[in-house]
Amino acid sequence: MDLVLMGPPGVGKGTQAALLQDRLGLVHVSTGEVLRRHVADRTPLGEAAHGHMLRGGLVPDELVTAMALDLVGSARCRAGVLLDGFPRTLAQARALDGALAEQDRRVDAVVWFSAPEDLLVQRLTGRRTCSGCGAGYHVLDRPPAVADVCDACGADLVRRADDDEATARARLREYAATAAPVREHYESAGVVRYVDGTGSVAEVAALLPTALHA
Ligand code: AP5
Repeated sequence: MDLVLMGPPGVGKGTQAALLQDRLGLVHVSTGEVLRRHVADRTPLGEAAHGHMLRGGLVPDELVTAMALDLVGSARCRAGVLLDGFPRTLAQARALDGALAEQDRRVDAVVWFSAPEDLLVQRLTGRRTCSGCGAGYHVLDRPPAVADVCDACGADLVRRADDDEATARARLREYAATAAPVREHYESAGVVRYVDGTGSVAEVAALLPTALHA
């Protein structure tokens, strides 16, 4: 099975992907995570992508698509992939469909999460991630026992460079400007499942089995 998680920044795609990957036996591929690793490692792709990410814009299709399709087509993803943050444009969606078709695969479902903008901004600006083990926190909803220290490994918690309020709002505007053609593309294939992302993490997770069997 090949699944795509879609929706605005902060809606909970990464959070739900982490819960779903083991349950469904799929490999979680987050293009945002892969790009952030390239930025940290100062690769040519990271250097080309960094400015777009800091401004809250999309990284150009020709850079992201090659990177994402390499992963989707790799041996470890043959049994199925859980895509988070890709495809984000119609060109990326068409390229993904073509690459999957070459392996007799297709996008089986697109889970499309939504939530009100004020809630999304609150989730993004309060997000913290462990610099050691990558565990996720939120200053209001999932605070660590000791401020800015990971409960699991004791390393410092960090805030993503694009999670300040101005950049979060820029990312939400970019999403509003670019998501519709992708949604229409997968709606016409009959694979979109809409899920309300406003509840707690557990409440949203509980909606997914029904959505995926719809
Ligand atoms: P990316 O990393 O994909 O960021 P995003 O789409 O903006 O999504 P986020 O990771 O911010 O949010 P999420 O929905 O995963 O929420 P999360 O679960 O973390 O992309 C970053 C950048 O990379 C882009 O801006 C772009 O520049 C570039 N990029 C990436 N892919 C690209 C592509 N295909 N094409 C072009 N450019 C690309 O949750 C957020 C917070 O809320 C957390 O603190 C979490 O604990 C909390 N939370 C989650 N769910 C709940 C809940 N139900 N209740 C309470 N709190 C919750």
